[in-house]
Amino acid sequence: MIRLTHVTKEYPRTGRALDDVSLHVAKGEFVFLTGPSGSGKSTMLKLIFMEERPTAGEVRVSGINSATLHRGDIARLRRKLGVVFQDFRLLDDRTAHANVAFALEVTGAAEPTVPAKVSRLLTHVGLASKGLAFPKELSGGEQQRVAIARALVNDPFVLLADEPTGNLDDRATRGVFQLLREINAAGTAVVMATHNLELLRRSDFRTIDMLHGRIVSDTGDSGAAERAAARLAEDDAAAREIADAREGERTTAARPWTPA
Ligand SMILES: Nc1ncnc2c1ncn2[C@@H]1O[C@H](COP(=O)(O)OP(=O)(O)OP(=O)(O)O)[C@@H](O)[C@H]1O
Ligand SMILES: [Mg+2]
Repeated sequence: MIRLTHVTKEYPRTGRALDDVSLHVAKGEFVFLTGPSGSGKSTMLKLIFMEERPTAGEVRVSGINSATLHRGDIARLRRKLGVVFQDFRLLDDRTAHANVAFALEVTGAAEPTVPAKVSRLLTHVGLASKGLAFPKELSGGEQQRVAIARALVNDPFVLLADEPTGNLDDRATRGVFQLLREINAAGTAVVMATHNLELLRRSDFRTIDMLHGRIVSDTGDSGAAERAAARLAEDDAAAREIADAREGERTTAARPWTPA
């Protein structure tokens, strides 16, 4: 599904950000990318997202090949990939609802279907009652959940997350991570760059450790996904928190954008 073959990425002034990296991520996997600052995590994600092209080697994502990009390939790819960043990157002058709706509209979704789909996505991330709030009126964790809802508009096969909890406190981190685990349990692969050792410790997901643009270890453990799924079912406080929020919203939320 995602395959990097002997990928090197060199920048003119800073040198090798990635150095002969080969990697395969299978459908539905959850993968942590870790390693010190400057080790190449964001570069790896940018190559998968095809925001950057490799200097040498090949990146293949869902049948699209960086070495033989055709017109329209990048747009096609981005419709199947969701991306979230540490700094959320929401449009500040639009409500939560409008941020998600905008992402749907640019992909050409039929207009009458947009409001209901946006409501469904915001409910999914536990924010049904906050649709009319602007980003500045939301907590960091809430903003990141809007960004995740936005990343899910096209039912992507993979969600790329570059330090999505980097700006969040512990509680918001747990909420966002729980959401990513649920999204993964529903079948979407997740590749998440993180410095958060606590998250790594709390889960058994495959962990790829990077240093100086190289992979120094890859747990690549095929049993990890099953164990992680079992853990998901555990009575987890973060899960309950989100479930409670959703339940409350389902019964009390006004839904101004439900289609007439
Ligand atoms: N656009 C760019 N132009 C030039 N050099 C870059 C660019 N992006 C990254 N680099 C270089 O590539 C190396 C890897 O950077 P990258 O952003 O991938 O690291 P990272 O592992 O994500 O670090 P952090 O944990 O701090 O986010 C760094 O040495 C950086 O200077
Ligand atoms: Mg980075």
